[in-house]
Parts: sequence; structure tokens; C-alpha cells
Amino acid sequence: MKPRLVVAALLPEAVVARARDEFDALVHPGPADMTREEVLDAAHRHQAEGLLFVNTLRFDADLVARLPASLRVGATSSVGYDHVDVAAAAARGIAVTNTPGVLSACTADFAFMLLLAAARRAHEYDALMRAGWRRRIGQGDLLGQRVNGETLGILGMGRIGQAMARRARGFDMRVLYHARHRLPADLEQGATYFPDLRAMLPHCRFLSLHAPATPATENIINETTLGLLPRGAVLVNVARGALVDEDALFAALTSGRLFAAGLDVFRCEPEFDLRFASLPNVILSPHIGSGSVETRTAMGDRALDNIAAVLAGRGPIDPLRS
Ligand code: DGY
Repeated sequence: MKPRLVVAALLPEAVVARARDEFDALVHPGPADMTREEVLDAAHRHQAEGLLFVNTLRFDADLVARLPASLRVGATSSVGYDHVDVAAAAARGIAVTNTPGVLSACTADFAFMLLLAAARRAHEYDALMRAGWRRRIGQGDLLGQRVNGETLGILGMGRIGQAMARRARGFDMRVLYHARHRLPADLEQGATYFPDLRAMLPHCRFLSLHAPATPATENIINETTLGLLPRGAVLVNVARGALVDEDALFAALTSGRLFAAGLDVFRCEPEFDLRFASLPNVILSPHIGSGSVETRTAMGDRALDNIAAVLAGRGPIDPLRS
């Protein structure tokens, strides 16, 4: 008998195929990820032992309380787990896991793409061409900001922040970072640590966010901290929308305090604040930083590895702890 699994999210074909092969899998046909009620219904009908989900499901105390007693493991195919109530799961004896490591490089690639695009106005040039460019651009028109040789501040220096720093070094950027703890020198690789975020910001022509959403990072980028950046700075956020006070961000983008922003994440998703879509100096994407075939497959595989390990009695590979 194969272990019973509910796959609540739309995942790459290879992951779904493996889930069907190794588990007695109830796979949601779509067209969107399962809603909360669909998850509960499927988990009860299937007497699920494992649940594979993504951050569209709030795995909170209310959901945990309503899941069937059969459930032993919930695996989110994401590194962020602000949507998971780890303590509530632990209290019910449900192991919860995430997928660290496998998505760091692709997410940093994406963040660096947003940084380059925002600074060098890639999305504006693309729109201009699509509108049927016919007028020569003067030498002083539509100029972007230089990236190479400039200073990048990184907020949050975990695996993705470190991968971002490696990319920045390839562009001869000076890297500064703020995190709760200083990294050992071999991981720091010459980046300068600032124990105080506010002391770092005045040096940052570019600022990239890579911290998790926690009570300590809620609205950490706000009117005051944006005001500490040099005028004309560029902000990139591929972490979580909750880190940013979006009213303050909008004001900074319209006042010239910020030259531009690259935003992959928003306080409210998918119903993001449409004011940002009206700004030419913002490049937008729909929370898809890790979205390559290879990485999303690796994430789904890692989630299945975690589920298999727990259901085989070996314990989770990537346990979440509160
Ligand atoms: C993650 O892995 O946390 C990404 O943001 C997708 O949710």
C-alpha cells in the first residue's frame, strides 16, 4: 500500500508524475491551487497522510485543527513559511517542512534581473519598441542608472542574499549587508556587515530585500528607512510584500526619492496594489522569483522527499521549527 497524499497545488508535470508513482496521490486538476475548503474536503475524503501545498494555502491553526487525524506531514514547496503555523502543527503532531537551498540561485538570478531592468529601464524600452518606435532617441533621453561599480545593500543574508551578493560581485559592485547575525568570513566574501540597518541605508544606491516576513521585519522598509537611502536609489523585493509599507514605497517612487523599483512580491497577492502598475519606473512580476522549470521541479521533489521521509518514519529532511 502506497502512502496517501493530497497534492493541493499546481506543480510541474515531473513532480506530479513522481507523486502519482510513489504515492496513492489525489492530485487537484486545477485550474488553480486548491482552496482552503477543497484542501480540507480532499484531505478527509482521501484520509491523507501527507499534504503538499504552496504559499497560496494558509496552513494556520484553524486549518490544522480541521485536518483529519490521519495527516502526519505537511510540506510547503517554498522556502518561505510565513503561511505556516509551525506551533499549531507541532501541537497536533504534524511535521511541517519547506524547501531551502534548491531555489537560492534561481531566485537570486531573478532578483538581479529585476535590479538590472529597473536601473536600466528595460521594461520601458520594451514598451517603447512594442508601441512602434519611429523617433530617434537623443543622447540624453531615457537614460538609466549605472549598475556596475555601484554599491548594493542586501537586507537578509541567508542563502538567497548570499547568492545575490555573488552576482553583484560579478558586476564589480561593493556589497553591504544587514542581517540579525554577522556571517563567518568565508560566507561573507568581503561584504561589509552593518548591525544597524539605518546606518547601512545612506550608502546603498541599490537595496535588495531577502529577509523572511516576521514580526521583526514587518514594514521594515517604510517612510523613515526609504528616506535614509540616497536620492535616486533602486529597490528590489523578491522576498515578501510584508517587509514594505506600500504607501511609503508609492510616495518614494513618485517623488523621485527612488529612481525605480523591481517588485516580485506584494502585501496583498494576487490582488496587488494596482497603483504600482501605473508607474513607469516600476518593473513588476507575479511572485515568480524561483519560477524556472528546473527549480520548481527541484522544489516539488524536495517536498516529496520530505513527505516520503516522514511517512517512512525517518523524520523530515527540512523540518520547520517555531
Ligand atoms: C518561496 O519559496 O518562499 C517563494 O517565495 C515562493 O513562495
